Amino acid sequence: MNDPLTPYGNRPMVTPIVHAVNYEYRDFEVLRKITDGEIDGYTYHRDDNPTVRAVEKKIADMEGAEDCVVCTSGMAACALVYLTYLKAGDHLILFHDVYGAHYKISLILERLGVEITWLGADQSAHLNQYVKANTAMIFLESPTNPQCKIIDIAAARRAADRSGALLIADNTFATPFHQHPLRIGAHMVIHSATKALGGHNDLMAGAIAGSKADYDKLWFTRQAIGTTLDAYSASLLERGLKTFPLRAERMAANALALATWLSSQPKISRLHYPGLTNDPGHKIAQRQMQKGFGGMMAFDVGLSQDDAKRFISSLRVIVHAVSLGATETLICIPYLTTMLYLPPERRTSFGVAPNTVRLSVGIEPAEVLIHDIEQALMQV
Ligand SMILES: Cc1ncc(COP(=O)(O)O)c(C=O)c1O
Repeated sequence: MNDPLTPYGNRPMVTPIVHAVNYEYRDFEVLRKITDGEIDGYTYHRDDNPTVRAVEKKIADMEGAEDCVVCTSGMAACALVYLTYLKAGDHLILFHDVYGAHYKISLILERLGVEITWLGADQSAHLNQYVKANTAMIFLESPTNPQCKIIDIAAARRAADRSGALLIADNTFATPFHQHPLRIGAHMVIHSATKALGGHNDLMAGAIAGSKADYDKLWFTRQAIGTTLDAYSASLLERGLKTFPLRAERMAANALALATWLSSQPKISRLHYPGLTNDPGHKIAQRQMQKGFGGMMAFDVGLSQDDAKRFISSLRVIVHAVSLGATETLICIPYLTTMLYLPPERRTSFGVAPNTVRLSVGIEPAEVLIHDIEQALMQV
C-alpha cells in the first residue's frame, strides 16, 4: 500500500506533523511485532510519535549518541534521569551552580530517600573526596548556570568511576556545536532544547542522549509518567536544528567580541566567560570545547542591584527576559529570576551577587550589542 504522505515515493522536505494520539493496527501480527519491538511502529502518543522520533534521531547524531529521548521540557529531562536511575539510599552529587529548579527537585528526591551533597563548582577539582560507596550519580553543567564556570568532565568521570556512579552532563549552555560530553566521559547528556537547539523562544522541550540501553530505560519512565513531547513542538524543534550550527557559531563569535569589550569596562566586574584567556576555566574549556566557547556569560554591574536594574532598564536592543540560546540577546538578574525559589541565603552562598547579570548573546551584529551596552552603562 502506498504511503498517503508520499504517494509517488517522493520524500517531503519536512517531517510531517503527526497529531494522532492513537494508530490503527492493520492486523494482530502487526500489533505483536510492535509490542515485541520487531518493527518500529506506533500505537499511542504517550509511547512514541513519528515527528518526535525524527527529532530524537537528529539530536542523538549531534551528540554522538546511540539514541535520544525527547520530552516536554529540560526539567522533565532532568526528572526522567533522576527517577530512572536513583532509589532510596543512593547518594547524588549536585553542584550549587546548576539551573535553580534542581533545588526544587532535590527537595522531592530527599523526601524519597535520596541523599544529596551540594558542591561549589570550585570544589569539582576535589570531587574524589565527596564520592562515597553509595554515590550513584554526579550531575553537572559546564559551563554552569548562571556563573559560566567550567567543570572538568573527564575528571568528574574518573571520580564517578570510584563508586560506579553515572555521570550526567547538562550541555544546554555549551551546546553540541562546542562540546560533546559523551566523548569525554559523560554517560548521558541532557538538553533544555527550549534553548539553543530550538533557538526561537517558541517551544519547550528536553532531550537526553546516551546509549541504546539508556534509551530503553528512559523511554520506560517517559511512557509511564507521560512526558512525551507534542508533535507540533517536535516539528518546531526540528526546524530549529536546521539553523542551529549557524546560530551557535555566530553567538559564540558575538559573545567573545562582547566579553573582550566588557573586560575593559570600569563599571563591570567579575566577568565570567570561558573564552577569555584570563578566565579561571579557560584552560579546561579549551580542552573540552571546540569552535568557540558558547554564547553565555555572567558579570556584575556597578556596585548594587539598583545599578544592575538601571543598566537593564536602559537597554534598547537587548531584551530583559529569562531563558537563553535564542536569536535575540537576552539578559536577566539570576538573583531575581532563575534563583528566585532558592532560600535567600542559598542565592548568594556560591558566588552569585544581587547585581550579577546573565547575558545570553544572540545573532544580532556584535557592534549593535556593544553600542547598546555602552549607552546603558552610562546610566549606571
Ligand atoms: C542549563 C539548564 N538546564 C535545564 C533547564 C530547564 O529547562 P526547561 O526550562 O526547558 O525546563 C534550564 C532552563 O533555563 C537551563 O538553563
